[in-house]
Amino acid sequence: MDPSASELKQRLAEAGQSHLLLFWDELSPEERSGLTLDLQGMDFQELNGFFKKAVELSRSCKDEKIDSRMEPVPQEVLGSVTRDKESLKCWEQTGLECISQGKVAVLLLAGGQGTRLGVSYPKGMYDVGLPSRKTLFQIQAERLLKLQWLAEEKHRRKCFIPWYIMTSGRTMESTQDFFSRHNYFGLDKDNVVFFQQGMLPAMDFHGKIILESKCKLSMAPDGNGGLYRALGKHGILEDMGRRGIDFIHVYCVDNILVKVADPAFVGFCVQKNADCGAKVVEKSNPTEAVGVVCRVNGHYQVVEYSEITLATAQKRSADGRLMFNAGNVANHFFSFSFLKDVVEKYEPQLQHHVAQKKVPFVDAKGELITPDKPNGIKMEKFVFDIFHFAKTFVVYEVLREDEFSPLKNADRQDGKDTPTTARHALMSLHHRWVLNAGGHFIDGNGTRVPAIPRCGAAGGVADDGNRTLKDGTDLPIKCEISPLVSYGGEGIEVLVKEREFHPTLIIDESGVHQLVKNGLEDEEEGKVLFGQL
Ligand code: UD1
Repeated sequence: MDPSASELKQRLAEAGQSHLLLFWDELSPEERSGLTLDLQGMDFQELNGFFKKAVELSRSCKDEKIDSRMEPVPQEVLGSVTRDKESLKCWEQTGLECISQGKVAVLLLAGGQGTRLGVSYPKGMYDVGLPSRKTLFQIQAERLLKLQWLAEEKHRRKCFIPWYIMTSGRTMESTQDFFSRHNYFGLDKDNVVFFQQGMLPAMDFHGKIILESKCKLSMAPDGNGGLYRALGKHGILEDMGRRGIDFIHVYCVDNILVKVADPAFVGFCVQKNADCGAKVVEKSNPTEAVGVVCRVNGHYQVVEYSEITLATAQKRSADGRLMFNAGNVANHFFSFSFLKDVVEKYEPQLQHHVAQKKVPFVDAKGELITPDKPNGIKMEKFVFDIFHFAKTFVVYEVLREDEFSPLKNADRQDGKDTPTTARHALMSLHHRWVLNAGGHFIDGNGTRVPAIPRCGAAGGVADDGNRTLKDGTDLPIKCEISPLVSYGGEGIEVLVKEREFHPTLIIDESGVHQLVKNGLEDEEEGKVLFGQL
C-alpha cells in the first residue's frame, strides 16, 4: 500500500469502517484507484455523526408520535384559487410583473432515482404517451418559454426565467445530454443551469457502510433536501444573486400538470410578504400517499403520510373534510433572502430522515446478496424541512385536477400515479380548456360528447358503445394543447370558440389539427383530417 492508501486505512480504522478494504488484495490496480478515489472524498466522522443523529431521530419519532402536536393550517395564512377568486387576477399580475423584471427563477428537483417508476434514465425524460410524445422536461421547458412571452407581451420588456436543475451523480450526465440534444427545447442555454446534489452511502443497521461490490460502495442521492447544501457548494446562490433573483419557485419533476413559475402562486406569496410558501391540494382520502402541511409545536412542517397514525389521517372537521387536508404537492416558494439564510445558517441543523431499504451487498466471502427484507438504511434530507425557519409562511390551495398528477409508478391495472393517469389528467385538463373557451367535441356519429365525463359509474359499456372502460369511467377525450400556445388555458378562444372537433384534437404552434379515427385513448391513430383552421 502506498502512503496515501495507508493514511486512508488509518482513517477508516478510526471511523470503524475498515471492512471497506476487505477485498483490497483481490482488486486490480484500476479497481483500487477507483475505490481510493471514492473513499478519499468522504468525511467518515461526519458520516458516522449523520448516522447517529438520524437513528436517534427515527427512534424518537417512533417513541413519541407527532400526532398529538399537529394542528391544521390556520385560515389566515391560506390563499385559495376557489375561495379567493376575486384576488386571483391581482396575484397573477404581481407574479407576471416580477417575472418581467427578471426577479423569478425556478428550481427543479430532479435528482431522484425513479425507483418506483422502474426506469434507468431520469424521470424528466419520460414520455407518458401523449399525442405529441413530449417528455416531462419538454412540457416544463415550453411552459417556461410561454410564460416568458406572456410577461414580455404584458410589460413590453424582454425577460428570462432562469431554470436551475438539480440532478444527482446518477442523473447529471444523461440530463445534460438530453437537454443539449434537444437544443434546450428553445430556451436560452445560458438560462438553464445544472448542478449536482450530494450522494451518501447506504449503511447497515450498525452504521457500517455497505459495499455493493468488492470495490464499490452502495451510494444514493442525499434526498431532495440535499438541495441546500448543493446550492452553497456549487455557487448557485451567487449565480442567483448576480442575476437579481428575488423569488424562487421550487418543484418536483414528476407532476405533469405543474405550473412552472406559476405567476398567481408567486404573486400571492409576494403580496403576503412571505419568505416561504407551499402549494397544496385538498387531500381527499386519508390513505393517499402525500405529506400534509400543518403546524407542529407552532411551526410549519410537512408531515409525511408514513409518520402519522391512520386515526389522525382519518380525523374530520365539522364540515366533513379531513382535518389534515393540506396535501403537499411539492411546489414551494422561497424568497431569495430566506433561501440564502437557509443555505448559510440553517442547513447544518437539518437532520437526515431514515428509510429502511433492501440494499444489495457483498458478504464477507465476496458474494453478491440481494436481501428479501430491509438490511440497511438510506439517509435523506427533505426539501420542506426548512419550513419551520420561515418567519412568514403561507399556504396556497389549488385544484388537484388542474395542477397535480404526479408520475410515480409504472403502469399496471388500476394503478395510481402512473403514465396512464398522468396522460389522462393532462388531456382532460386540455379538454376542459376547450370547453371553457366555447369549443365542443363530437363523436363518430356527430353527437356532442357530454361535457362532464362519467367517473367509475356502474360497470359495463355505456350507450355510445365505445367511450367507456369496464368500470364505467369515460376514457378521456384525446386533446392536447401545446404549452407554447397556452400556459393555463388562456388565448385559445380565438381557435376553438363555437367550433366542433373530432378527437384527437391537437393545438400547437402550427395550428389546430384533428386526427381521425374516433380519437379515443388506446385506439389506433388515423390520418390528419386537416391541418390549419
Ligand atoms: C414528495 C414529497 C411529498 C409529496 C409528494 C407529492 C418530499 C420529501 N416528499 O414525495 O410530501 O406529497 O412528493 O408528489 O418532497 N428528488 C431529488 N433528490 C433526491 C430524492 C428526490 O431531487 O435525493 C426529487 C425527485 O426527483 C422528485 C422529488 O424530489 O422530483 C420528489 O421525490 P419523490 O421521492 O418522488 O418524493 P415522494 O416520496 O413521492
